[in-house]
Order: sequence, then structure tokens, then C-alpha cells
Amino acid sequence: MRILVLNGPNLNMLGIREPEMYGSNTYADLEKFVDDVCRENGIDYEIYQTNWEGALVDRIQEAYGKFDGIVINPAAYTHTSVAILDAVKAVAIPAVEVHLTEVNEREPFRHISYIGLAAAKTITGKGFEGYREALLWLKDNL
Ligand code: DQA
Repeated sequence: MRILVLNGPNLNMLGIREPEMYGSNTYADLEKFVDDVCRENGIDYEIYQTNWEGALVDRIQEAYGKFDGIVINPAAYTHTSVAILDAVKAVAIPAVEVHLTEVNEREPFRHISYIGLAAAKTITGKGFEGYREALLWLKDNL
């Protein structure tokens, strides 16, 4: 089983960006967290972060036939991107949407999730632990 972990814009700024909201752990810490979870659970994975919407679409398309599941935090593109939604629908790979913060308790524009229309599951507000939950959910449900 292979899982692709995708992270969108500004998540590379973890540790610097709004620490009161996102905490002090860095993106490298998140990569290590995902690596530890995958090793402990025998999950074959790739992780990728980009600030570019089209690059996320490309990676989703390239996952077709190569990955069994996707964990995706599209970050701000969650609330704007029909293109990412369409890409996930096009490849029809089960996807779990993750957000570090509790988006539904933040500004109203963050309550809208396009990717949520295609996601098999959505996990919000659990910080890095949300990625563990998403990976294990895919492992158990694929
Ligand atoms: C986020 C929430 C989004 O609203 C925001 O734009 C992000 C991160 C989260 O992980 O909580 O960049 O996806």
C-alpha cells in the first residue's frame, strides 16, 4: 500500500507562521512525524509540499496508478480550489483531508472546503496527530 502525503502553501513556514495558531514545530518536524508513523505501521509513502496550486494538481494526477491513498492538506487552496477537487475526483484515489487547526472555528471563509466534497474523511484541529489518524484510517480502510 502506497500513500501520498500532500501539503499546500505556507505549510513550509510552520514554526515561523502564526505560532499561536500553528505551534512551534517546523515543517521538517512534520516530515519526521509522518516518517515515524509510516515506519511504525509499515506504510510506504511519499511526502510533498508546494506553494503552487498547479503543482498539487500535477502530483495528484501523477499518483494515478501509483498510489492507493492520499492524505492532503491543501492549506489555503482548500477554500478556493475547484482544480484540486477535480483532480482528486479524476484519479478517484481515496483521499483524507487534514487540517492542523480547527478550520470550522476560524473565519467564515475557512468553513468552505472544496476538497471536502471528494474526501473520504476530514480531520481538523488535531495538529500533527491528524496526519497519524489519516494515515491509519487509510491503512485500515483501503
Ligand atoms: C490549514 C487551514 C487553512 O485555512 C490555512 O489556509 C492553512 C492551514 C490548517 O492546516 O489548519 O494554511 O489548512
